Amino acid sequence: MCKEAPPKDFPRKSNLDFFKKFRPRLKLKPSSLELSSPGVFGCFFFSFCLVFCLFLLDYRSASRGFNLHGQSVVLNWFDLNSSSSSAPPPSSLSSSEGLLGNSGNGKAGFLEEGGGGCNIFDGDWVWDESYPLYKSEDCMLMDGGFRCSENGRPDNFYTKWRWQPKDCNLSRFDAKSMLEKLRNRRLAFIGDSIGRNQWESLLCMLSSAVSDKTSIYEVNGNPITKHSGSLSFMFRDFNCSIEYYRAPFLVFQGRAPAGAPGNVKMTLKLDQMDWSSSKWKNADVLVFNSGHWWNYEKTIRGGCYFQEGSEVKMDMSVESAFRRSIQTLVDWISRETNPKKTLVVFRSYAPVHFRAGDWKTGGSCHLETLPALVSSQVSSATSVEVRTTTDLVVELVKKSRLQNVKLLNVSRMTSQRKDGHTSLYYLGPKAGTAPLHRQDCSHWCLPGVPDSWNELLYAALLRKELTDAQNSTQHSQPSPL
Ligand SMILES: *[C@@H]1O[C@H](CO)[C@@H](O)[C@H](O)[C@H]1NC(C)=O
Ligand SMILES: *[C@@H]1O[C@H](CO)[C@@H](O)[C@H](O)[C@H]1NC(C)=O
Ligand SMILES: *[C@@H]1O[C@H](CO)[C@@H](O)[C@H](O)[C@H]1NC(C)=O
Ligand SMILES: *[C@@H]1O[C@H](CO)[C@@H](O)[C@H](O)[C@H]1NC(C)=O
Ligand SMILES: *[C@@H]1O[C@H](CO)[C@@H](O)[C@H](O)[C@H]1NC(C)=O
Repeated sequence: MCKEAPPKDFPRKSNLDFFKKFRPRLKLKPSSLELSSPGVFGCFFFSFCLVFCLFLLDYRSASRGFNLHGQSVVLNWFDLNSSSSSAPPPSSLSSSEGLLGNSGNGKAGFLEEGGGGCNIFDGDWVWDESYPLYKSEDCMLMDGGFRCSENGRPDNFYTKWRWQPKDCNLSRFDAKSMLEKLRNRRLAFIGDSIGRNQWESLLCMLSSAVSDKTSIYEVNGNPITKHSGSLSFMFRDFNCSIEYYRAPFLVFQGRAPAGAPGNVKMTLKLDQMDWSSSKWKNADVLVFNSGHWWNYEKTIRGGCYFQEGSEVKMDMSVESAFRRSIQTLVDWISRETNPKKTLVVFRSYAPVHFRAGDWKTGGSCHLETLPALVSSQVSSATSVEVRTTTDLVVELVKKSRLQNVKLLNVSRMTSQRKDGHTSLYYLGPKAGTAPLHRQDCSHWCLPGVPDSWNELLYAALLRKELTDAQNSTQHSQPSPL
């Protein structure tokens, strides 16, 4: 966004100025995207830029490959209820071997807990007639760009798949119960436009249980289509807010310091969290994502360099800068959050699916109507982005011994869903379909794939409730989730 971001999305005045100044240039790149942003959805589609920008990667990212941590150890953290007799009683869940746990083979990721239960991220997509969980027509809290069926997408198979973990059953998503759990709480998504995609999915999932839709409102009166950097929807009857903060790099982006070389237009201050962090630091649930913007094109190439302290690191690679940013995130979490109160979730990288090209070169996904049902169908070429982002987060969280961070490991399951993208259907109702060579194979139709990520988020909340309850009865060590 260094370079591409239109002024609108940029909250700070200094940046506005900056962008005004550079606007003619900025237009170059995104202009292609602007085609796609007629009318109302213009703004929205700006954030698309991002998206479009995201792709550095050739899709193909898929599946195998994420295996660095070996067979995941599994746990039962979500199936609290199911019919399954395999779920041990809460008291048998080990609260001492938590996310950091080295259960068994020492390979457990930080999302996993000991106790031989179930890895909810390992499973299959199964056809379920009872899906989707809501209809886009019934949900006002959604950008036009995600309303694929209203935007002309002819098939709806992509709305019918439910994620089924291999070794256990998830409790069916229950919006009322999730709202109850979030009563008097704040849940915030912090990240890029794919995070926004997930946020809007959750808004729709939750609002489906609220009959008086006027009881849900944006706290500053902004419409959902506004791309101002942040939006917060309050569910009045639950005193619960579901918030979104746009921070694609998570760390602070600003003007170059005085005296920096002329080609440095902006910098990412790798040792400082995004300016909005003061606004979300007290939220009860934080859902981060990052990765799509950490590439050469979106940073250095556009004149956005990296900075530590007051020094601009002209030679720093994007990869080391990304690593540094995640360290900053981890440090921030340990410094600023209370593990007893705050649930921190990192949603892993969501693969893109451009076939035969990328967003600039006519890559497509519009003919995909089915997931890769057998995960081995997914190309085994490994996406560097998926591995590096996710593994890095896991590594640094482990090192820091943070107890309250959970990985929402959606990369693998998502890599199977080449059918779920907005492809040609992101221009909004009435605007028609996008040109074939301008497809969006990184954002997701709603209802659709992000709903499944949110079902897993719901599972994480259930798990937290369980471990909290356990803790309170057992006076045991701090609970992992
Ligand atoms: C478990 O199932 C029972 C009955 O099916 C239901 O009343 C209860 O709310 C469920 N609990 C959870 C945590 O889903
Ligand atoms: C999951 O649910 C199905 C259908 O209700 C049931 O047959 C199966 O045994 C359950 N599996 C587990 C692990 O609980
Ligand atoms: C994420 O889940 C997949 C599928 O279960 C697994 O192969 C992979 O190792 C997991 N990644 C991490 C970092 O735990
Ligand atoms: C609403 O929730 C906030 C925290 O999100 C809390 O500080 C406040 O006291 C709650 N208000 C009421 C009336 O419970
Ligand atoms: C668990 O309970 C113990 C004793 O009450 C308390 O000291 C500890 O902070 C609690 N941990 C969490 C995570 O609530």
